[in-house]
Amino acid sequence: MKENKKKVFIRSFGCQMNFRDSEFAQGVLLDAGFGKAESFEDADIILFNTCSVRKHAEDRVCANIWNLKKLKDKKPDILIGVMGCMAQAKREGIFEDMPLVDFTCGPDDEEGLPEIIKGVLKDRLNVASLNNIGATRKELFPEHRNNALKAFVSISHGCDNFCSYCIVPYVRGRERSRLPKDILREIKNLASRGFKEITLLGQNVNSYDGYGGRRDDFARLLADINRIKGVFRVRFMTSHPKDATISLFKAMRDLEKVCGHIHLPAQSGSDRILKLMNRRYSAKEYLKKAASYRRLVPGGSLTTDMIVGFPSESDADFQKTLNLMKEIEFDSAFVFRYSPRPFTKASKLIDDVPEEVKGARNTLLLDAQNRISKK
Ligand code: SAH
Ligand code: SF4
Ligand code: F3S
Repeated sequence: MKENKKKVFIRSFGCQMNFRDSEFAQGVLLDAGFGKAESFEDADIILFNTCSVRKHAEDRVCANIWNLKKLKDKKPDILIGVMGCMAQAKREGIFEDMPLVDFTCGPDDEEGLPEIIKGVLKDRLNVASLNNIGATRKELFPEHRNNALKAFVSISHGCDNFCSYCIVPYVRGRERSRLPKDILREIKNLASRGFKEITLLGQNVNSYDGYGGRRDDFARLLADINRIKGVFRVRFMTSHPKDATISLFKAMRDLEKVCGHIHLPAQSGSDRILKLMNRRYSAKEYLKKAASYRRLVPGGSLTTDMIVGFPSESDADFQKTLNLMKEIEFDSAFVFRYSPRPFTKASKLIDDVPEEVKGARNTLLLDAQNRISKK
């Protein structure tokens, strides 16, 4: 029987949530009797866990799938599946765009993968499993982890913020918090297995409401995790500035297991653009948050994401972003060129900042950040 195990290889794109989802899917498949392949060539089933956040991210996935054409010609029995955000965004259209693909599975359909794959192996018909978007995920605890020391733990799924440029709420559904008891159970198990670093994941961990929706639920979760026996560090991401509270900063200061690092994406320093982005804070409010963080968590690091070239962003708007970066002196920053995404409000605005201007602004921000980081 053992020799007949179908082996699965998963290739991941996108954010850490996706990497965790791939690991989870691999674990669920191992528990269901599938094997783990170490390469495309060694696999019976190849899964791509995909990202849709920018067009470039989708293009990379598509190029990677097309690269399997030769392999699939040689081994026509191989199954190719697309899971994650692009699967949800493109829906059945994916089979027309990419005839190599046999099945797709949305981000909230992963626990069904063993059944989906068994069905496709049997009937050899294309399957699209995309209907559980927004569903409460079943609590499964597969053993499998990709790394022996560092582990990711999802504390919530989906997002309710609807930043006007962002596709995530449309492909991952509304925000759902996992219950504290399930999160604590998972972390206790990891701690007893000797994991040294636990990173809590959510699109916006600060709006975690697993204890019933109080504003300080996330700080409370950190305190409960801090009490778990074991020598490990706790990190988390991402935090929406509007929901990062003083009680969170105090928890970071007081809980010895929690690392002094917060990723607090500012996205822009211009109030006009922040408003168009539906970020629900002003540059001044962001500066104030950053200042309280630095005051309450001495020596803590602060990192950010910035978008350049959002529709109608003028030189003056951009200058404000540059000023904010210089004023705050982030420890590091990711800079992205705006990319219009389907379903989003911003995609109805004209993408009127030319690519060269986006590129130049990108370079200016990165240069400024490099000077700050050196300092
Ligand atoms: N929930 C997280 C991560 C979202 S995606 C957060 O709110 O920070 C990661 C980053 O991608 C975002 O912070 C944003 O800077 C960038 N991003 C999202 N949509 C984008 C788009 N349409 N074009 C360019 N960058 C985008
Ligand atoms: Fe996207 Fe905004 Fe949600 Fe982050 S908070 S995932 S940027 S909608
Ligand atoms: Fe990409 Fe989906 Fe993450 S769109 S950034 S993989 S939530």
